Amino acid sequence: MNKLHIIQHPLILSKMTQIRRKETPTKMFKELVNEISALMCYEITRDLETEEFEIETPVSKTTGYRIKGEDLVLVPILRAGLGMVEGIQNLMPSAKTGHIGIYRDHETLQPVEYLCKLPSNMQNRDIIILDPMLATGGSAVKAIEILKSYQVKSIRLACLVGCPEGVKYVHESYPEIPIYLAALDEKLNEQGYIVPGLGDAGDRLFGTI
Ligand code: PRP
Ligand code: URA
Repeated sequence: MNKLHIIQHPLILSKMTQIRRKETPTKMFKELVNEISALMCYEITRDLETEEFEIETPVSKTTGYRIKGEDLVLVPILRAGLGMVEGIQNLMPSAKTGHIGIYRDHETLQPVEYLCKLPSNMQNRDIIILDPMLATGGSAVKAIEILKSYQVKSIRLACLVGCPEGVKYVHESYPEIPIYLAALDEKLNEQGYIVPGLGDAGDRLFGTI
C-alpha cells in the first residue's frame, strides 16, 4: 500500500466531519466537496515536474517556474466526480476536463460505462481521476482501464473516502497508480456502501435522495 496517500490536515478533518453528517444539506455538501478537493490538490500535485523560465519583476529579471509539459487533464467519474472539479480547477485554471460516465449496477455492484468524452490529445498528459467514493474499486479500475488505452503519461486517483476493499482492488489491478484519499474508512457493508462513509455521494451532491 505504499502508493496510498491519506491526506490528513486539521481543515480536511473538520470539513470531512461536516460532510459525513446526515443532516448536512445539499448546498453545504457541494461547497465542502469543492473545498476538500482544493485542499487535497496541494498534495496530489506535489510531484508534478516544473521547468524554469525567465520573467521580469518591476525591479529585475528573475527565474520563474511553471508546470512542465502538456496541460493536465481532470477526469471526473460522473456523476459524483463532477463535484470535485471546480475546487481543483480554481487552482489550476489551465487544466482540461474530460468526462467518464460510469454507474454501479445496484444488484451486481459492477461498473457500467455510459459515456467517455475526453480532450482530443490525451497522449503524454498527466491525468487526475476524480470521484468522491472508492468503494469496491470497480468504477475506478474501469476508468483507469479506459484512460490507459490513450497512452497517457501518468494517472493519479483522487477520492474523498475510500475503504480497504477498494484500495486493494485498485492496487492489485494497477500497482503503479497512486491513490489520494481524505479518509480511509473501515469497510464496505452488504449493500456496497462505505462504513461509516457519507452515504450516496451523487445523491447528496445533486439532491436526488
Ligand atoms: C458512486 C461513486 C463511484 C462509485 C464507487 O457512483 O461516485 O463512482 O459509486 O463505487 P465502486 O467503487 O464500488 O465502483 P454511482 O454508481 O452511485 O453513480 P452516480 O455518481 O451517478 O450516483
Ligand atoms: N458510492 C457512494 O456514493 N457511496 C458509497 O458508500 C459507496 C459507493
